[in-house]
Amino acid sequence: MTYASAAAPKRVLVLGGTVYLSRALARLAVERGHDVTVAARGASGEPPEDVEFVRIDRDTPEGVEALRGREFDAVFDVARIPAHVGPVLDLLADRVGHWSFVSTISVYARHDVVAPDLEEPTAADSADRAVERYGASKVACENLVRERLGAKAFITRPGLIVGAGDGNDRLGYWPLRLAEGGEVLAPGEPDRPVQWIDVEDYAAWLLDAAEAGLTGTLDAIGEPIGMGAFLYGIAEALLEAGIIGEPPLLTWLPQDFLAEQGVNPWAGPDSLGMWLPSPEYDGHQGRSAGPAVAAGLRLSPLGDTVKRWWRANAEAPRLKAGLSREKEGAVLGAWHDRRRRFDVPGPEAEA
Ligand SMILES: NC(=O)c1ccc[n+]([C@@H]2O[C@H](COP(=O)([O-])OP(=O)(O)OC[C@H]3O[C@@H](n4cnc5c(N)ncnc54)[C@H](OP(=O)(O)O)[C@@H]3O)[C@@H](O)[C@H]2O)c1
Repeated sequence: MTYASAAAPKRVLVLGGTVYLSRALARLAVERGHDVTVAARGASGEPPEDVEFVRIDRDTPEGVEALRGREFDAVFDVARIPAHVGPVLDLLADRVGHWSFVSTISVYARHDVVAPDLEEPTAADSADRAVERYGASKVACENLVRERLGAKAFITRPGLIVGAGDGNDRLGYWPLRLAEGGEVLAPGEPDRPVQWIDVEDYAAWLLDAAEAGLTGTLDAIGEPIGMGAFLYGIAEALLEAGIIGEPPLLTWLPQDFLAEQGVNPWAGPDSLGMWLPSPEYDGHQGRSAGPAVAAGLRLSPLGDTVKRWWRANAEAPRLKAGLSREKEGAVLGAWHDRRRRFDVPGPEAEA
């Protein structure tokens, strides 16, 4: 990571800017007094107020012509496929001061350990959107940006992004569930690490980095904490906010039992958000926040992230993870039944 001698940007282009992270970034850039241009189709949502909106469609190379001849001090891009990246680089690479590309932690090929190996990139003009090629596509996008921007490129690899506007709400299952009360099924081991990055922290850091001329490639993720600390941290925030009146009652179930009962990890139907099985995913939520923090990333306390998430999303969450109360009750019931039959000591016996 290095610092280029960039002057603070004034003319900022956000490729995206109509939803979630890229929208938060555009809004923050306006708040900081930059002249902000947002370029997208306008299909995912509205750009924030007080930006110039340029309608482009990156699904065709001609679809970005509206940006021809423009110059920017800083560009931010969240593209997922190389076919979207090459054409804007052709137009703008020689006309910008700093280029920030949002990649993903899914570029890493190994999930069982924390290792630097990357997925094999897709072709440099690939338009393949298959979810199985997500990491490989981002590697190809990163390579294009590095080849064309060299010392002006800042590439960040976020893990799970959480916060206002989250379209997945994998974290969101937990505050919603804890707010309902009763016996809560907690997955696996309490010290199993989980990690995330708050959308507002990330947007602020990306903008700070452009303002400081920071370049290089870094993971963008908070420090891992145990699942137990995570769940009790959420509960504490809900207690402080008066959303719950008493601490939750968690029952930790081993992963083999959960698998047997049809409880899935991470996301999707009958899943528990942020939980990943061992040993296949021992490395997936174990990356260090250290290098990003050393490069200026400021991490909100979990309680602040939870309270912001609650204010923004709790009324209309877009949950892509979670168990129904019926399923959770059935799994807990099966566990207690087995414990009684085989005389397995439970939490009460341990107390
Ligand atoms: N969410 C996570 O947990 C997570 C984790 C790791 C990495 N990431 C990465 O973080 C970034 C998130 O970006 P985001 O929050 O802004 O959400 P996003 O859903 O990736 O936003 C994509 C943006 O690109 C625009 N876009 C899409 N297709 C387009 C086209 N054909 N032409 C022009 N513009 C187009 C969209 O606007 P229109 O549809 O209005 O055109 C939208 O503003 C992505 O790079 C993602 O890969 C996310």
